[in-house]
Parts: sequence; C-alpha cells; structure tokens
Amino acid sequence: MTPDLDTALSQVQAAADALRQRVGDGARVGVILGTGLGALADQIEARETVPYDEVPGFPLSTVESHYGRLIAGTLRGVEVLAMQGRFHLYEGYSAWQVTFPVRVMAALGVETLLISNAAGGMNPLYRRGDLMLVTDHINLQGANPLTGPNVDAWGPRFPDMSEPYDRGLRDAAEAAALERGVPLRQGVYVAVVGPNLETRAEYRLLRQFGADVVGMSTVPEVIVARHQGLRVLAMSVITDECFPDALEPVDITEILAAAGQAEPTLAALMGDVVESLA
Ligand code: HPA
Repeated sequence: MTPDLDTALSQVQAAADALRQRVGDGARVGVILGTGLGALADQIEARETVPYDEVPGFPLSTVESHYGRLIAGTLRGVEVLAMQGRFHLYEGYSAWQVTFPVRVMAALGVETLLISNAAGGMNPLYRRGDLMLVTDHINLQGANPLTGPNVDAWGPRFPDMSEPYDRGLRDAAEAAALERGVPLRQGVYVAVVGPNLETRAEYRLLRQFGADVVGMSTVPEVIVARHQGLRVLAMSVITDECFPDALEPVDITEILAAAGQAEPTLAALMGDVVESLA
C-alpha cells in the first residue's frame, strides 16, 4: 500500500536524488533482469553499479538466485538503467516496496521498461525452455501496489489496463525473434504470491482462468509502470511444465537450470528490442 502522500513522494525523491548523483538521469530505458536475463547484465557496458543497500529506501533482495544492484551503462549503444535482482511479495515485502524501484526509475526519466521472469507453463503446447512474450496478465496476488492514497503527479487513480504490454515493443520483439529464427510464444501471465509452486488443482484452475503461464513477479511492476505511463515489454522463460494430469515434482534448481539455458536467447532478443529504441 502506498504510504501517505508526503512519505511516498519524499521516499521516491530521496532515492532518485541519491541515484542521480551516482548514475545521472540520462537513461530512458529501464530493465528488470529477473530470472532468465542474467546474461543481459554481462552485455551492458557498465558505467556504474550501485548495490541496493546504498540507495535510501530500497529494499534488499533476500533471494539467493537474485543479485541486488543497479547497473547504469549502455546496451547496444542505448543508455539503460538495469535492476539486477528484483523484489517479490513472497519475501514479505509489500506491493509498495516491491515496486519502489519502478517509481524511482520513472522519477529518473525512464520511459520504457523491459522485464523478464521465470514462469511455469500451463498451456499444453508449451515446453520447458520456451520463451513467451507476455501479451496480457491476470493479477491473482490479492495485493495491488496502487492501493492507498494516489499520487496524482505519478498517474491517475484508476489507470487503464486495456493494453498493458506495448504493441510497438511486442512487434519489435516478434520481429527480432523472426530475424533470429527463435520460436517465441505469446500468452497470458497470471501472478500468484508463492513461494510454493501450485497444486494440480490450482494449475487446473489457473489454466481455466485463461492464463498460459504462472509466476510470482512482474504484475505489480507492470501495474506501477502503467500507472506512471511507461511503455512495457515482458518476456517469460518457461521453466517447468505445469500440466495437472501429468505433473512431475519439480524443484527450484531445475527451474533455475531451465532459465539458465534459455538466458542467452532471451538476452539476445531483449538486446534487439533495446537496439530498436536507439
Ligand atoms: N508456478 C509459479 N511460479 C513459477 C513456476 C510455477 O510453476 N515456475 C516458475 N515460476
């Protein structure tokens, strides 16, 4: 929940001011390097890296598989500000905390946000290791980062969600996939809190709800980005097959291994999209 107006504004301002000193405010493209985009971090020509604990108000990443730092630099000639490591509701953070970095990026002038995540595939045509362009989402987290007072300077009380994932960015991703000969699925991402994976009954339900994949991130960040008027692109790596009638036990190491294998391809596609923004 957004804290009271003055607190919300001053927290974001303090973090943005501190970062402006370190990395400037020239980046128009923000990247959230979730599971599956680690390889993209290596391709950024970093000018400055800032650990989260050096940014006032930033939460700290508690998940071992996630770093906790901001990277400012250029990617394919485009100035970017990248978050290596993100925050999740399952870590105990509020939706406000999870999305705080997106508010800060917007305060620094970021206009386009590129996001990756790992997700379980429920569409029976999907296979482990596939990549999916997120075309729409369902928020089943029971939390929303926009509850509480609305900061009108950031965006409207009732933001539109008719097309959260930017058509032009999706076209650029599709074109990049075609050019590289990489199969790219397109589908709906449903967000749950986690941290446990779903039961068979839950996968069956989520599939019937109309989702193709399920994950524990992204949606709060997208809601805040859209509130602020940022253009958004999100891509998922399918890390496990969630077919209720043929479900196999899966553990996090297998999920991370699948994400790791798909990483170079996802990073290449994201890089192509960034290049198209030059
Ligand atoms: N469920 C929820 N989140 C996930 C999954 C899943 O099966 N796989 C990767 N992230």
